[in-house]
Amino acid sequence: MIKDYNLSDGDFAKLRDIIYREAGIRLNDLKKVLMQSRLIKRLRELNLDNFSEYHDYLLDNFDTEKINFINAITTNKTDFFRENDHFEYMKKVILPGIDRKGLKEIRIWSAGCSTGEEPYTIAMTVFDYYGRRQMPELLLLATDIDTQVLGKARVGTYPGERLAAVDENVISTYFNSDGADPCNYTVKDFVRSKIYFRRLNLLQDEYPMKKQFDIIFCRNVIIYFDRETQTRLFANFYRYLKDDGYMLIGHSENITSITDRFSLAGRTIYRKVL
Ligand SMILES: C[S@@+](CC[C@H](N)C(=O)[O-])C[C@H]1O[C@@H](n2cnc3c(N)ncnc32)[C@H](O)[C@@H]1O
Repeated sequence: MIKDYNLSDGDFAKLRDIIYREAGIRLNDLKKVLMQSRLIKRLRELNLDNFSEYHDYLLDNFDTEKINFINAITTNKTDFFRENDHFEYMKKVILPGIDRKGLKEIRIWSAGCSTGEEPYTIAMTVFDYYGRRQMPELLLLATDIDTQVLGKARVGTYPGERLAAVDENVISTYFNSDGADPCNYTVKDFVRSKIYFRRLNLLQDEYPMKKQFDIIFCRNVIIYFDRETQTRLFANFYRYLKDDGYMLIGHSENITSITDRFSLAGRTIYRKVL
């Protein structure tokens, strides 16, 4: 029998409600084709004939299938040194400030870390800044809702093409190459060991972390959320950021109409209003 992999408006509406409720991700009508293409693989794996069957399957096996459903829908686009002026600002302004305070520990959170390029870039920037000098203990928490990308991030191995725009010096300092053709590169252990990858749904009311952070990166994540979710999220970030900390969002994101509890310090770089 030929399978009907067309997502009807009705099934789209039902699945869209579920992803919004579970992950805060808001999909407008134009995203129907996107959802269809992202879920087809899952239908094939489960040997289901159509999306209506998938919807029933999801509800019947919610505890286990929810994760696969969320993993399929999330958009995980990322890059090393993405929006690089943020890392330049870290080196020029944020890290010298932390340095002057003589902290024993630098606490950084990459919220929505995808496959790891962002937290690894953050760690490399800290190592670069301190160079050979004694540096504070770096504690870098990297979280995402998607367990599949977190698995890749933990391994820290990337095909050479992912590093095409990365400086040769950075590659030789922070990556081991497997020497194959084409080559894969793995982030060196001294960098990987600084990063704690954890699954965290930013939609949760309470987060498990006990202490505040010096820097919170949440870049290219809030674009998928509606205003209400964004408002709750920034209230959480406000609580989790130290009074003199920094919060960075994506270049195409904006918080001016969402919250007035942060003031602009650089391009999409914010500090707390106290
Ligand atoms: C486009 S990527 C951005 C990656 C990186 N921050 C960057 O700017 O390159 C967005 C990430 O947010 C994650 N995400 C989406 N909804 C989330 C939620 N409710 N809680 C936690 N992470 C979420 C996705 O799984 C995805 O990996």
